[in-house]
Amino acid sequence: MKKWSGGTLILALAMILVLRYSFMESHPQKQSPFGFFKDLSENGTRLEGNDISRPAQLPEILEHSKRPRLISVEGVDGLYSWSDISEAESRVKLVWSQMQHLISRSDSLPETAQGVKEASIAWKDLVATLEKEKSLSAINNSLYLNDTEDQNCPFSFSVLNSTSLTNGSLKFPCGLVQDSSISIVGIPTEHNGSFQIELVGSQLPGELDSPVILHYNVSLQGDSLMRDPVILQNTWTADHGWGVEERCPANAASGNTKVDGLVRCNEQVGGTIRDETVNGSQLSSRKLLVSKGSGHISYSFPFVEGHPFTATLWVGVDGFHMTVNGRHETSFAYRERLEPWLVSGVRVAGGLDVLSFLANGLPVIEDPGLVVDVKYLKAPPVPKKRLLLLVGVFSTGNNFERRMAIRRSWMQYEAIRSGDVAVRFFIGLHKNGQVNVELWKEAQRYGDIQLMPFVDYYSLITLKTIAICFFGTKILPAKYIMKTDDDAFVRIDQVLSILKEKKVSDGLLYGLISFDSTPHRDKDSKWYISEKEWPHASYPPWAHGPGYIISRDIAKFIVQGHQERNLKLFKLEDVAMGIWVEQYKKRGRKVHYMTDDRFHNAGCESDYILAHYQGPRLMLCLWEKLQKEHQPICCE
Ligand SMILES: *[C@@H]1O[C@H](CO)[C@@H](O)[C@H](O)[C@H]1NC(C)=O
Ligand SMILES: *[C@@H]1O[C@H](CO)[C@@H](O)[C@H](O)[C@H]1NC(C)=O
Ligand SMILES: *[C@@H]1O[C@H](CO)[C@@H](O)[C@H](O)[C@H]1NC(C)=O
Ligand SMILES: *[C@@H]1O[C@H](CO)[C@@H](O)[C@H](O)[C@H]1NC(C)=O
Ligand SMILES: *[C@@H]1O[C@H](CO)[C@@H](O)[C@H](O)[C@H]1NC(C)=O
Ligand SMILES: *[C@@H]1O[C@H](CO)[C@@H](O)[C@H](O)[C@H]1NC(C)=O
Ligand SMILES: *[C@@H]1O[C@H](CO)[C@@H](O)[C@H](O)[C@H]1NC(C)=O
Ligand SMILES: *[C@@H]1O[C@H](CO)[C@@H](O)[C@H](O)[C@H]1NC(C)=O
Repeated sequence: MKKWSGGTLILALAMILVLRYSFMESHPQKQSPFGFFKDLSENGTRLEGNDISRPAQLPEILEHSKRPRLISVEGVDGLYSWSDISEAESRVKLVWSQMQHLISRSDSLPETAQGVKEASIAWKDLVATLEKEKSLSAINNSLYLNDTEDQNCPFSFSVLNSTSLTNGSLKFPCGLVQDSSISIVGIPTEHNGSFQIELVGSQLPGELDSPVILHYNVSLQGDSLMRDPVILQNTWTADHGWGVEERCPANAASGNTKVDGLVRCNEQVGGTIRDETVNGSQLSSRKLLVSKGSGHISYSFPFVEGHPFTATLWVGVDGFHMTVNGRHETSFAYRERLEPWLVSGVRVAGGLDVLSFLANGLPVIEDPGLVVDVKYLKAPPVPKKRLLLLVGVFSTGNNFERRMAIRRSWMQYEAIRSGDVAVRFFIGLHKNGQVNVELWKEAQRYGDIQLMPFVDYYSLITLKTIAICFFGTKILPAKYIMKTDDDAFVRIDQVLSILKEKKVSDGLLYGLISFDSTPHRDKDSKWYISEKEWPHASYPPWAHGPGYIISRDIAKFIVQGHQERNLKLFKLEDVAMGIWVEQYKKRGRKVHYMTDDRFHNAGCESDYILAHYQGPRLMLCLWEKLQKEHQPICCE
């Protein structure tokens, strides 16, 4: 350090080139040899320094000094320290060493620190569980990871009354997935004007309190703002407390935007404040229920004291939805870091008699004893030659069924079984220990899973995109690299024949390309981007996330750019890819943007190459249609 601070600027700048390579291999430290440059670059350059629209004009050397720093992130040591897993087993974390400097960047994606810290706890827990199992099986001399205990994730279960709820709560051992639902038959009781239904998250060992992923508070007598009955929805976390409350009926001022195409608040639920001054005819058409005693008009509020109701809370693509007595009442968009896969239990409190309770559509694991076709589902051995295509599928820990459906459907294409094309699932660690154990076993059984050194928050998915580029250039080198999702059906044969036909082997971005799009500046949008994150009015061309393909040279450019930390991190992974591709173009390389509207990012249409939003059942159905009718026909 002394030597450095004493040196001249020119000497330092010359040496940085040498140092940056050796530094890459070492652990990030608080006191880095870049300390000297840090002072030069810290002022306001964290974002701008990486702003790809400008640095083209800057001399190369300045670009280096403007790169983000490496900072120390809590938990990294726990994730990267040596542990007692065998070399064969550690094949599930081949990209971790490459990712260490990515998760330690000073300009990291939001929630990175949290995701890494939680992953380190989950990882420690998982390694301990595995070691325990190993030592047990050594004693009993039975097979390691004997699968007889796999029945821990039931598809559905029910309880009959509140006395059988432990402290008013029920656990979902393996979380919730899309289309899971919870039905409650209950009666609001009179003595207590409100009741609450809460979906709570997993608590890692050492965490003080579990987050509330949905707080659903029904107040029959209204609250201080309104004397009418009201439904309040919110979230709670230990570090941020309560979020922004959503009311139904809504204030007249607030808009009624939709979630998964459903209104956030059914207008029939009650009049808005403004509605109360509206003339009588409108009022009487809404007057369906009059609560006892007061004679006060309560419009058609779905919950009434002393009257039984059936409420079904279900998990959609973008939010939770509540149906009461068959009518859609409320929707609640998922919030950052509070995603449905994290739900580990439901809690009921307040004035509610629960008559019955049913959880349905929960994630299940196929009984490995009954999977007779493991041989045909396992990843084939990797060929010695370079792969034609590597497909990275983004998935989440408890999406067991989606992965099985993909293994049984489009992963059965000859090109994949023969080893010309490899498919790998890229999955972050889960907060639920049971899910991690199951995921680990699945990874060992099928050999097609790559775990990530962070917990699977949506805001971190761009790190997976970079991981796929690492994997497809350094670990299983491939000519082309494709990114897709675990609810997308890909006709690999078509993709290959188009790639062959077009003969573009350099500078390729292929998929459904948006050439002229603008950032969402509406804070409620799932794709909201602040001015700080992206100051420009439009995005460069990018290909929609459910499926796109890049050529090897672009993947290498991305890997190198992130090793040198001169490419921007951006939380929308598909747009991020577009940004990097544009950067590649700015370096004077030719880019072929190849758009194809047969990549359907909003569902399925006949003659598809890629169909999105296909659950496990649809996935298998599409495959069957292709096998039997030899035509790409949609199901449903
Ligand atoms: C950053 O630069 C501005 C002027 O450009 C200056 O006012 C400010 O004090 C600087 N901040 C730091 C931390 O150096
Ligand atoms: C192994 O033995 C222990 C007792 O030594 C027993 O508790 C455990 O259930 C056995 N495990 C299996 C898989 O048989
Ligand atoms: C699992 O363990 C049980 C009892 O320890 C044994 O009967 C069974 O054969 C084992 N299964 C496998 C696949 O090894
Ligand atoms: C609640 O259900 C349990 C069995 O699940 C039963 O033994 C008990 O009698 C029931 N209680 C009421 C109040 O119905
Ligand atoms: C139920 O709550 C009591 C007190 O609040 C607590 O002592 C007990 O451990 C809880 N039981 C379970 C199963 O969580
Ligand atoms: C409901 O009533 C119970 C006692 O009957 C009381 O402890 C609790 O605070 C009440 N809840 C609300 C929200 O008023
Ligand atoms: C539910 O809402 C009512 C009305 O605003 C409020 O008084 C009560 O404290 C809330 N209950 C909880 C548990 O937040
Ligand atoms: C009251 O209702 C009548 C028809 O029933 C309608 O023409 C009128 O616009 C309404 N007034 C207001 C203020 O909405």
